[in-house]
Parts: sequence; C-alpha cells; structure tokens
Amino acid sequence: MPADPEMLDYYARRAREYDRIYEKPERQADLATLRTALAGAFSSKAVYEVACGTGFWTEVIEPQCSGVFATDHNDEVLILARARLEGSTKVVFANADAFAPPPAPFPVTAGFAAFWWSHVRRAELRAFLNAFFARLHPGASFIFLDNSYVPGSSTPLCRTDAEGNTFQLRQLTNGERHEVLKNFPDEAEVRAVLADLAAGLKWTQLGYYWLIEGRVK
Ligand SMILES: C[S@@+](CC[C@H](N)C(=O)[O-])C[C@H]1O[C@@H](n2cnc3c(N)ncnc32)[C@H](O)[C@@H]1O
Repeated sequence: MPADPEMLDYYARRAREYDRIYEKPERQADLATLRTALAGAFSSKAVYEVACGTGFWTEVIEPQCSGVFATDHNDEVLILARARLEGSTKVVFANADAFAPPPAPFPVTAGFAAFWWSHVRRAELRAFLNAFFARLHPGASFIFLDNSYVPGSSTPLCRTDAEGNTFQLRQLTNGERHEVLKNFPDEAEVRAVLADLAAGLKWTQLGYYWLIEGRVK
C-alpha cells in the first residue's frame, strides 16, 4: 500500500504550524481528558506509535510508559518531535511508512496512532491495520484517537469520493491551499473494521474527539 505523497507534502509544509490545532479554546477540556486517559492507558507499556507527527502525544505518554517507538514518514515533523523529546532516554524515533511499519527496536506491548485513522482511505484501513498489528503481539493493547466532525469547529468537507472518503480544503498561513483526505467514521464503522482483528473494544465519545481501545487478537 503506497504512502500518499500529497498527504506527506502537506504535513511537511504544515510541520511548523501544526501544533496550533491544539490551541482551539473550545477543545481544551476534551484535550485535558485525553491527556489523562492516554497517560493512564499506556502506563508501564512499551508503545509503538505510528504517524507521531511533531510528538505532541508522544510527549504526553512518555513519562508514564516504559518506552515509545515513535514513527512518522516525514523528516520535517520528526525534527520537531526529536527536539520536543530531547533528553528522553525512552523514545526512539524513526522515519517509517505506517503501511509498511518496520520491527520495533525493543519488544512492544501497545500500539498507538493519533489522528491517523482519519487520513487512511476507507479501502486501505484493513491493509494498514494488518501491517501494524503484525508488529504487535496478540494481547497487545492499542488505542486509536481521532476527530469527530463538529460544525463550526471542524474544517468543512469539500468533496466525497466514490468510496465514501471525504476531503477538506485546508489553508496554510502562507495562503497555500491543500485538499486533504479526512474521514469522520462513526463508532459502528470503526468497530466493524476492527471486529475480527481485536478483542475488548471500548469506544469513548468526547465532544470533539473519539477514542477506541482494544487488544490485538
Ligand atoms: C494529523 S497528523 C498527526 C500527528 C500526530 N499523531 C498528532 O496527533 O499530533 C498526521 C501525520 O501522519 C503523517 N503521515 C502521513 N502519511 C504517512 C505515512 N504513510 N506513514 C506514516 N506517517 C504518515 C504525517 O507526516 C503527519 O505527521
């Protein structure tokens, strides 16, 4: 499954302004809830994180977990993530494609991806999950976290393709506009995709975000 070069180019160009998304005032209470939930869920775990971006959530889970293998397919965001976690002896970063994840450099007990599910075409979700879960042992826990669509807060959708994938037209501070794949699945859809791959699924719905956790079968 090839990585999407347009998606990678967009996030490379957005890297230095990416973290502003976490400053939206209306989302602060949910973000506080997520920080607490993730730090607790990954306590003492050795985590394999895909699409770690600038390391915003890597930094959140790092103090509690035993280690993080944090990967992204973009050197521009990894530079910022490495700087953010500078001094941590627990995090190993690598440039890696989420669709072809390499073996972790240490045994991992949990998988994690924040705001990545929404950027995977519906038809490619299973390929991603099969590849990712192959790097996690049966029984390993995992968490996927992503946006719910909230009118007035979310960027409006500009297009839906024949497979039901939705897109947003996003503008960078320099005025550049990029059409970006961004899906907003509901609980039933996420559960259906994971059903035969995972056990113990638990869905949490916040105002602006959803989170699903479970264990690899
Ligand atoms: C929405 S950002 C999420 C970043 C981070 N997880 C967060 O929550 O702040 C999506 C990330 O996916 C990365 N990405 C895009 N295509 C990828 C691929 N094929 N493999 C791994 N990462 C990819 C981008 O570089 C970007 O950092």
